[in-house]
Formats: sequence, structure tokens, C-alpha cells
Amino acid sequence: MLKKRIGILVLMMTAILFIAACSSDTDSEEVYTLQAGHSLPDDHPYHLGLLEMAENVEERTDGRVVIEVFPFSELGAERELTEGMTLGTVDLVVSSTAPVTNFVPELAVLDAPFIFNDRESAVEILEGEIGDELFAALEEQGIIGMSWAENGYRHITNSTHPIEKPEDLNGVKIRTQENEIHLAAFEEMGAQPTPMAWTEALTALQQGVVDAQENPAIVADQYSLFEANQQYMTLTGHVYSVAIYMMSKQTHDELPEDLREIVLEEGQRIGAVERDMIIEMEKESIETLKEQGMEIIEEVDVAPFQEAVSPVYELVEHQELLNKILEAQK
Ligand code: PAF
Repeated sequence: MLKKRIGILVLMMTAILFIAACSSDTDSEEVYTLQAGHSLPDDHPYHLGLLEMAENVEERTDGRVVIEVFPFSELGAERELTEGMTLGTVDLVVSSTAPVTNFVPELAVLDAPFIFNDRESAVEILEGEIGDELFAALEEQGIIGMSWAENGYRHITNSTHPIEKPEDLNGVKIRTQENEIHLAAFEEMGAQPTPMAWTEALTALQQGVVDAQENPAIVADQYSLFEANQQYMTLTGHVYSVAIYMMSKQTHDELPEDLREIVLEEGQRIGAVERDMIIEMEKESIETLKEQGMEIIEEVDVAPFQEAVSPVYELVEHQELLNKILEAQK
């Protein structure tokens, strides 16, 4: 009798262990599909970076994390994508910092014109303590900053005349990003800026609602802005357009720890890869724009532009951060 009872007990224990093993197997087999969005074409480094990240993540997780990449603002323009991450409706995003500033005001320092001496100084600052401080501010808004990327230097294009000095911008209707500092900077230079999402900008240029826009050469090239009345480009390089590879904190918290680590690690390495691609493609884009008949004003005396926009530094909310960035480059 006792033997029989022990036998039943052993059988029951085995069944429990078997069920537990099966259910934990099921968990480990679960596939997590993450959606990644950005605003540019599928041959832009933003996209190529996300594809490389997706491939590495899928390989390292044995297919348990699949990243689907959506270009051309298919999941929303940059401001909407940022909001989506705070709400947990978008998992991964790469975006320029200008619209993200509307959610994380600390980032406004990065969009102050001519704030960085050069690209190398920018990268050193972003990858150092100041960058960590900015990522901490981002995290408070429900967004994990994974790595710093870029879209290149912003230059002015327009449909009417070569712009060689700030006065040439007088009365020029220019589309800017949805960023108060950019808006104020163009007002200081006498232009008439209208902030709008990139999704609306192309039509505004084509229809002559605005005469001008400012973006890196790669954007002018990939969107064939020479076919949208943009005949002149002045290499002002007024803003080093910082971008960030980001993940929604909600997505981060919902992923099992082992998978989360892999996604984070791959996200952390992709910014530098993306930046190298931009540097290469930027040169090619300037050549393409010339071949397409755009007049490129290359020899620009930037000092008068710097002088004209200097009052906007006072508008930056986080003055202590601004000063730290300036100090770090002395
Ligand atoms: O001008 C903008 O809105 C941005 O530079 C763009 C083109 C969406 C890329 O980040």
C-alpha cells in the first residue's frame, strides 16, 4: 500500500515538473516583434543602421526578437514617433534631436546653432558625461537613449537667390523643424520661419508656400530638393544635426532581461556605425547636388551668421548644460 502511494506521489511530481518545464519552454520560445520607425528613405544611414541592428539582434537572440523597420515616417513624423515611445506604442526610433526637445527640454542645448567647434568635439561631448546626463533626462520621459548618431551638418537651400550673408535671408520664407531655438535663430537672421514636420515640408516647397529649408546635403539629395524649386544651397553648417537611436522604456521593461540586454547592446553600437556612413554619403550627396545643377555656395564666411544668431543662446532653458558644452571645448 505504502509503495503504491509513493509511486503515485512520484508520478504526480514528475507530471508537475514536466508541466513546469513545458511552460518555461513556451516562454523562452516567445517571439517579440519590435517596430522601429524613422522619417527618412530606406537608403539613408538612419535606416541602414536599424537594419544592421535588426540583423544582429535576430541572430544573437536566435530569432526571438524580430525588428521591423519602417522608413518615410510610415509610423509617424519625428515628433509623433517620440510621443509614441513615451506611450509605448512605438518600440524603437531614430530621430534628429530637434523635435525630441519638445518632450525633453534639456536636449535643446544640442540645437543651439554653432554650439560645437567641430564634429569630433560633438562626438566627444555626446559620448561623455554630458551625453549621459542628457540620456538620463530622456529616460525620465520614458525613453531610453541607446546611442548618439547624426544626420550631418544643416545647410540652407532656397529657390530665389544665393545666400552669402545673414542679410540675404531677409524676408525669406523658410521651413524649420519644430524647435524653438531653430525658429528663433532664423528670426534673428531676418527670415520668416515656419516650423512644420518633414512630412509637410516637401509639399510646402513644391507649392512655393515656403522658399527655403535647411537640412544636411544627404536629405536634399535623397529627396531631390532640386526638383522642389531648391536651386541654391549655402554650406552654413549652422547646426550639427544630432540624432539618437532610442527605445521606449515600456518596451525595454517588457522584454525578458536576456533579450533586453542584447537589444540594448546592439542599439548602443549602431550610432557610431551610422555616423561613419553619414560622413561618407554627405560628400557624395554634395557632388550629386552639383551634378543636378544646384548652385552650391561653398566658401561661406560663417562669422556673421554666428554673430546674428548669438542672442538665441539666452533662450536655452538649461544654461548650465550650455555652459558645460562651451567650457568643454575651450
Ligand atoms: O528637417 C527635418 O525634419 C529632419 O532633419 C529630418 C529630415 C526629418 C531628418 O531627421
